Amino acid sequence: MLGVQTDTLVGMSTRLTKAVIPAAGLGTRFLPATKAMPKEMLPVVDKPAIQYVVEEAVAAGLTDVLMITGRNKNALENHFDRVGELEATLEAKGDTERLKKVEYSTSLADMHYVRQGDPLGLGHAVLRAHMHVGREPFAVLLGDDIIDPGNPLLSRMIDVHEQRDASVVALLEVDPAQAHLYGVATVESTDEDDVVRITDLVEKPAPGTAPSNLAIIGRYVLKPQIFDVLRETQPGKGGEIQLTDALLELASGPHHGGVYGVVFRGRRFDTGDRLDYIKSIVQLAVERDDLGPDLRRWLRDFAPTLKD
Ligand code: UTP
Repeated sequence: MLGVQTDTLVGMSTRLTKAVIPAAGLGTRFLPATKAMPKEMLPVVDKPAIQYVVEEAVAAGLTDVLMITGRNKNALENHFDRVGELEATLEAKGDTERLKKVEYSTSLADMHYVRQGDPLGLGHAVLRAHMHVGREPFAVLLGDDIIDPGNPLLSRMIDVHEQRDASVVALLEVDPAQAHLYGVATVESTDEDDVVRITDLVEKPAPGTAPSNLAIIGRYVLKPQIFDVLRETQPGKGGEIQLTDALLELASGPHHGGVYGVVFRGRRFDTGDRLDYIKSIVQLAVERDDLGPDLRRWLRDFAPTLKD
């Protein structure tokens, strides 16, 4: 076996273990909040957005998490690290509930970090994971996209990857007026209701020109051939190295097993977008036992006072 490194061998795959979380974007839509802090650290109720994403990876059985970080990475690393002084203070106070929450975030997964350097695009960020991932399939979860914590989207995508030995993206039906903000897919149906085969992809099509309303959202299960393709991918839309462009190559290249989409019908929040961020806080908070009853009561009183 020594020295043998074929994708066929890897194809006889064991269950995925590695998650890659790109979190090196500039977060310009959230300035000035993101001037000195990554947007992935913005709190959604009382947890930073990134913790929901790591928890989702762990819930899907991915215990090895590689975060792609940029400038201001310290807050991200510190969040998943121990803070002895804080733990000692909570312990001394007998505040076991908060102590458990603090300890939980440090014991979630086996965390690793790599810097992207310049934010040259999502494709470039994913390529930075190559050394760590090697020739295994892996998942990519965008650090600012929250999927409803109760929804097993990622596990479903991993199953589809294993059944079809192909890369898999998550697709969401969006309002056609919003399609220009996403990578948009042209698809063919399969024998499974929630699975489609991707035949074409376009990153952020000009308004009114999107080939469908099926948008790629921030979850991917990728075969390692994506690295070979990304290495050759030239800057595309916005001068960035686009993951969508590399996925199109995987979808159309004859040797890569194609790309499938799992059509997601649950709730998803783009916390990098200010309005979606606010909605995520309200929706997740109203469902909580500790905050929900008071918040619901307040919202009921507040809503009738709103004017257009
Ligand atoms: P976005 O396009 O939403 O991130 O990228 P952004 O560029 O930070 O956002 P704005 O438009 O300036 O507000 C989606 C995900 O990809 C990561 C981001 O951190 C985010 O999680 N990303 C993007 C990188 O890690 N590196 C990049 O070069 C670009």
